[in-house]
Amino acid sequence: MKTLQSRLAGLAVLGLIALPVITACGDTATATVATGGGTAAAPLDLLAAEGIKPDPSASGQFEFFSWWTAGGEADGKNDILGLYKQLYPNVQVIDAAVAGGGGDKAKAVLKTRMQGNQPPDTFQVHGGPELLAGYVQAGKMQPITQLYKDMNITGSFPKQLLDLVSTNGEIYSVPANVHRGNELFYNKQILSDNNIQPPTTWDDFFTACATLKAKNIPCLAVGGKDNWSITMLFEDMLLAKGGPDTFKSLMAGKTPWTDPSVVYALGGLQKVWQNKYINDDFAGHTWDEAAGQVQNGKAAMTVMGDWAKGYFQANDAANWSTKMGWEPSPGTKGIFKVITDSFGLPKGAKNTANTNHFLALMASKVGQVTFNLRKGSIPARTDVDTSKFDVYMKDAAADFASATALVGSAPHGSATNDAFASALNTGINTFIANPADPAAAAASLQSQAADLLK
Ligand code: GAL
Repeated sequence: MKTLQSRLAGLAVLGLIALPVITACGDTATATVATGGGTAAAPLDLLAAEGIKPDPSASGQFEFFSWWTAGGEADGKNDILGLYKQLYPNVQVIDAAVAGGGGDKAKAVLKTRMQGNQPPDTFQVHGGPELLAGYVQAGKMQPITQLYKDMNITGSFPKQLLDLVSTNGEIYSVPANVHRGNELFYNKQILSDNNIQPPTTWDDFFTACATLKAKNIPCLAVGGKDNWSITMLFEDMLLAKGGPDTFKSLMAGKTPWTDPSVVYALGGLQKVWQNKYINDDFAGHTWDEAAGQVQNGKAAMTVMGDWAKGYFQANDAANWSTKMGWEPSPGTKGIFKVITDSFGLPKGAKNTANTNHFLALMASKVGQVTFNLRKGSIPARTDVDTSKFDVYMKDAAADFASATALVGSAPHGSATNDAFASALNTGINTFIANPADPAAAAASLQSQAADLLK
C-alpha cells in the first residue's frame, strides 16, 4: 500500500496570470455548522472555540482576488467573505473577481499586478507549480508557516496537499479545498429513457453516444469557450488508458508523448468530434453553460471538475442530486485528479493584518466547511465536522480518502509546468479543429514536451 505522500509524489504544476472585474461583496454567510447530535451552534461560537473572535476595531480594506463568478463558485466565495464580514464588520472587503472559468483572464491580470508590485491582499492560486514556480520561486510571496504553528493545524491537512503549497521547509498558502477533476455528470432521466447505464469505460461511453446520436440527443455537453475543458477530457481518456504512473511520467517529460496512451486519448477525442457526439454549439459555451445543458435535459453528460456540482446545486439546491448522477470519468475509478485552490500573503500586500485574519479564517474548521458547502469541493482539512456535507461531498470525501492514486491536472496548475500546460492546451484544441491524425498530433506534442519539459 503506497503512502499518501508517495501517491502524490510527482504532482507538479505551473501557474499563470490575467485581468480584473470588480463585483460587490456578496451575501452574508448562511452556512451554519452543526456540532452533531442535533445541537447546532452558530459559526461565530464555533470560531471562538478555534480562537477566532469578532473584532470591530479592525478597519481599512481587504482585497480578495479570484475568478469566481459562476453559480456555485461565487456562492462559496460569498459565504466565506460573508463570514469574514461578520467577524470584521468595519473592514471594507473588495471582491476583485475577473470573470472567466479556469482563470484564463484572471491569471493574466494577476501576473501583471504581481510584476508591477501591485498585489491584491490575497489571491486564488492553485497549489502546485502555479503557486510555487509562478510566485514563490519568483520571490513574490511571504511564508505563512507561523500561522500554521500558531493555530496548531499543520497536521490537519493531508501532507500531500501541504507539499503542493510548501518549499524549502516553509508553507506559502492555505489550501481552501479539494476539487475532483475527473468526474462525469449525467442527466438520470435521459440515460434511463434510453436504457443506458452510466458508462464506466470509454467503450461504453461511445456505445451510449451512438445510441443517443440516433435519437438526436447530444451525448456530451462541452464548454469549448473555456477551451481547457477539452484538455480535461483528454486528460481523463489518457488516465484511463495509461494509468496514473504513465500520466505523471508524461507530465514530467519522462515518457515520450508518442506513447500509445496519448494516441488512444487523441483517438477518443477524434471519435467524439468526428461523430459529432457533442453539443454542436460547444465552441460558444462556457463550462457552466455546458453543465446547464445537461441539467436542463438538452444533453446527456458532461465531463468536468466538480465545481460543476456547485453549479447544479446553485440552480436547484433541493433536487439537483436526485436528477443528476455522477461517476468518476470512465476508466478512472480509484484515481482522484486533485485541484486545490489556495490563498497566501503576497509581498507588498497593503493590508497585512486584515489578510492574516482572512487566512486564519480560511484555515479554520468553520471557514473550511462554510466555504465548501456550496463550492462543489470538499474541505482540504480532514478534521472538520462533516455533518453538513451533502451526498456528493460525502462521496467525494470517501473517494479522496480511499484513492489508490492522486494526480494533478495540467490546466489547473497541479500536473506540469506552466509552459507545457499551455502548449498542451493549444495542441489539444488545434487537434479537435481537424482531428484527422492522432499519431501526428502526438508527435507534435512530443516535440513541445522535448522543449518545455527538459
Ligand atoms: C478551477 C478552479 C475552481 C473553479 C474552476 C472553474 O481552475 O480551481 O475553483 O473556479 O476553475 O472556474
